[in-house]
Amino acid sequence: MVPHEGHLMTEERNQESEMTGQILDGKATAMVVREGVAARVAALVADGVQPGLAVVLVGEDPASQVYVRNKDKAASAAGIAVQTRKLAAETTQAELEAVVLELNEDAAVHGILVQLPLPKGLDEQRVVEVISPEKDVDGLHPANVAALVQGVEGLLPCTPAGCIELLDRHDIALEGKHVVVIGRSQLVGKPVAQLALGRNATVTICHSRTKDLAAEVARADVIVAAVGWAELVQGDWVKPGAVVLDVGINRGEDGKLVGDVDFEAASQRASWITPVPGGVGPMTIAMLLSNTVMACARQTGRVETLIEDGLETSRS
Ligand code: GUN
Repeated sequence: MVPHEGHLMTEERNQESEMTGQILDGKATAMVVREGVAARVAALVADGVQPGLAVVLVGEDPASQVYVRNKDKAASAAGIAVQTRKLAAETTQAELEAVVLELNEDAAVHGILVQLPLPKGLDEQRVVEVISPEKDVDGLHPANVAALVQGVEGLLPCTPAGCIELLDRHDIALEGKHVVVIGRSQLVGKPVAQLALGRNATVTICHSRTKDLAAEVARADVIVAAVGWAELVQGDWVKPGAVVLDVGINRGEDGKLVGDVDFEAASQRASWITPVPGGVGPMTIAMLLSNTVMACARQTGRVETLIEDGLETSRS
């Protein structure tokens, strides 16, 4: 449909004066995804396979301890057999790699996640490369990164996959949109940019050397803020009607959790916006569970097929 002038004017007026962002509720959406995962787990169990996940935590970083506990709880709730390996901060590279190699060989473990960041002195890249790509439910192994870039089957990193899932489940299409990603991390920025490209978006990746961040953001139909800088993105940078995905989790001056976007101001202009907490964060965990089930299905010779409201498992 080609909108006629009157339609356009109404839309513009709405965008100028009345736009208040609808909440992209990651918590509620993640629960729906997790219910789907639980059903897929149940189908595999009924077929004689118990999906298993191993989470490796090295050291005592408080934030990592919380994340790992949440992953453990969510996996158990979905019926996944989860084991958390807690290793001392003094663990050597060789010891950590030995644990990963042992998990690679364990047929009851279909997914392996080594919580990052690792304590100083441990080589994260090397550890990730030791994980068997089929079990790399974090999607960080070079083979999975290549699969993402080439658009072939692999395992997707959880936070970027969660961002796309959140958009999909709200019928927010990326095709032809200008997506501006702030941050170029291996974990989020680079892969989310690739996923958006795969959906036929035009993608700009901004980073610490970007000359005029505000001007880049102002052109975005969709903003993905993943830089870890509290409330960096100002409300008046946001184009009226833009969609805002805030991946940041930062402690504000008052100790409260805040994202990379000034939520109050940005929500006056955005059409959709994720809160922090309760936005992208819960989706990350949901996608980890989904990846684990997918990895399990593939490793046990089953295929998962996309059906209207989820995935269906069958023997290949
Ligand atoms: N630390 C923060 N986010 C992540 C993640 O998605 N995966 C891992 N392994 N560590 C993280």
